Amino acid sequence: MVRMNRHELAAAIGSAGWRTAVEEVPREEFLGEAVYRLHPEQGWVPVRRAEMSPDDWLALACADETWATQIDGVLAEDATGPVGFARPTCSSTHPGLVVRMLETAGIGEGDRVLEIGTGTGYSTALMCHRLGSHAVTSVEYDPAVAAHARAALTRAGHAPTLVQGDGLLGHEAGAPYDRLIATCAVRSVPPAWLRQVRPGGTITTPMCGWLDGVALAHLTVDAEGTASGRFVDDDVYFMTARPHLPPHREHRLGHGHSRAGRTDPALLRDDTALFVAQLAVPHALHGWIDDTLALHDVATGSEADVRPCPEGGWTVNQHGPVRLWDLVEHVLEVWDRAGRPHQSGFGLTVTPDRQYVWLGVPDGPRWDLPQQTVSGGGIMRSVR
Ligand SMILES: C[S@@+](CC[C@H](N)C(=O)[O-])C[C@H]1O[C@@H](n2cnc3c(N)ncnc32)[C@H](O)[C@@H]1O
Repeated sequence: MVRMNRHELAAAIGSAGWRTAVEEVPREEFLGEAVYRLHPEQGWVPVRRAEMSPDDWLALACADETWATQIDGVLAEDATGPVGFARPTCSSTHPGLVVRMLETAGIGEGDRVLEIGTGTGYSTALMCHRLGSHAVTSVEYDPAVAAHARAALTRAGHAPTLVQGDGLLGHEAGAPYDRLIATCAVRSVPPAWLRQVRPGGTITTPMCGWLDGVALAHLTVDAEGTASGRFVDDDVYFMTARPHLPPHREHRLGHGHSRAGRTDPALLRDDTALFVAQLAVPHALHGWIDDTLALHDVATGSEADVRPCPEGGWTVNQHGPVRLWDLVEHVLEVWDRAGRPHQSGFGLTVTPDRQYVWLGVPDGPRWDLPQQTVSGGGIMRSVR
């Protein structure tokens, strides 16, 4: 961790438009009383403000690092010890990425913004600082996280509209917005977002899939209620929006029809390759058992595994109605022929009826995204 103060952090990461906000918003206030640090054997371990010197806590807050604040629903300040290796359910994204996203979204004075994923409230505070609280609405799914963010924002002197509920429903009461920015990733763009952003406005959101490939999309909404744009040239990872999280499945190996493979499964250790593969098998989960890749399709129960052979090459086993590895190999070959572009070589078009990712240009090769209905809960409660 590089020790910096807020001014040094702002100088390191701030663009002209966001430098003053980074200098003046006290990130330490948004981290609460504790964060988690990942320990190689114990998993996530709480690190408490009370057990550190004020200088060390400040240095932690001013580091350009992501700090997890909630793991599997347990806030760091409530953890009595290590909580294992589960996935973070809330974090304060590293400020450098927060600022890059705000820049990508093109947010500036005069914009009315809807943020999905208030989290600690730090990014909300940066926007309030620059645009004024009246211009900012932010939605957070988790009640405990939302309550913390509200308290921190109030302490810092900001009063945006804060909503606790499912951000995939947006916040109709404040629409239309000029900019929508999501800090959690979605499998497909929720229809409410399209309706709540004005024509000419933009949606900036991490797009994810169940193979864990993530890319940041920047879309412009048109007068017909269609949005389109490209994935940006940035490598991002964001936690998945809670209603879009995958279910859990066990992987079984060695079932079904066997054939020789053409593609090294180790390619799927690469983030862009994962992003590409999940376009072909949008309901599939993956896992590694040593150097064997296992795929399980939630929609059909189909399974595949691919392993290196001692004599060279690979063996593929496929079981069920969908030949998962056939589809993955095909899309990886299309990507390979195009020169293996980064996610920014792809774009996304969203209409009220259909959403698809395209390669190169909108009428290039395309893959439909899964249509996911918004979560059943969906009850929204305004907290301010
Ligand atoms: C990476 S954190 C947000 C970081 C935050 N912007 C900050 O600066 O601290 C992602 C947040 O999205 C929230 N989230 C997940 N699914 C959501 C949903 N459907 N609606 C609203 N918030 C959601 C999580 O609870 C988490 O707090």
